[in-house]
Amino acid sequence: MSLALKSPAKINLFLRILHKRSDGYHELASLFQAIDLCDELIFKKAETDSLTCSDSSLAVDGSNLVNKAIHLYREKTGYSQPLQVHIEKNIPQQAGLGGGSSNAATTLYALNQLNETPVDDKMLVQWAGEIGSDVAFFLSKGTAYCTGRGEKLYPMPELPVQEYTLVKPSYGLSTPLVYSKYSSSLLPKNPPEISLKSFYEQKPEYYNDLEQAAFLAEPKLQTLQSLLIDAGFKIVHLSGSGTAFFCLGEGKVDIPDVKVFKARSLTRPNDQWY
Ligand code: C5P
Repeated sequence: MSLALKSPAKINLFLRILHKRSDGYHELASLFQAIDLCDELIFKKAETDSLTCSDSSLAVDGSNLVNKAIHLYREKTGYSQPLQVHIEKNIPQQAGLGGGSSNAATTLYALNQLNETPVDDKMLVQWAGEIGSDVAFFLSKGTAYCTGRGEKLYPMPELPVQEYTLVKPSYGLSTPLVYSKYSSSLLPKNPPEISLKSFYEQKPEYYNDLEQAAFLAEPKLQTLQSLLIDAGFKIVHLSGSGTAFFCLGEGKVDIPDVKVFKARSLTRPNDQWY
């Protein structure tokens, strides 16, 4: 018995940082959108556990979020079936596209499918937050407003389908490094609830409060954003803590050492995976 599931990437249509918390995390509010740039995960019942990945640069030990999700699901439910898992990687790493978090959420969903006594979706969402801040989002239908560390999930209605151009430079950035460079600006900012409404009133406000922090961590990113605006794109923002940009509008990317992907927003049907 085997189960092959897509594991999509995400972008943050807006990302507001509210304040730094006493536990070291940042309180945020963000509108997340799943996109059709996907990894594929294959789960097979086996005699012993194993994890393999098409990308040899990705660790397949206990630090891999797939293994963390398996461990957590077993701990919570007692499900003990050994599994052979393979990750076919397409989502770039250290890109702010949530690839690892998506793999973890897909794993929770898969194990729950394979388990004869599944738990309800709300439980999975709660457990997702224990693995990482972005994991819960990937258990939504594809569009969600997330608050807290990012783990509090408010599913939102589907937005009109859009095509994005994703631009990923060869270098990546670590999420903790970018957060460590964040300092709040004194400029007045729209509350995130207003930004959220703007997307449903056809006047979308795109922004990312982590951009300046990412530019401090890697100044070449600011130059890349300017090049993309000069290339003709109307909207150019970093996704999450970067280093991938998502762009809207028409632009001609003629920039060395970047990978360009076309991706569309993605929604999953009720009671089905992506
Ligand atoms: O939760 P996750 O493991 O994905 O977070 C990785 C790191 O990113 C955290 O250890 C923290 O440094 C930073 N982070 C943060 N505030 C958030 C989410 C992540 O400071 N809301």
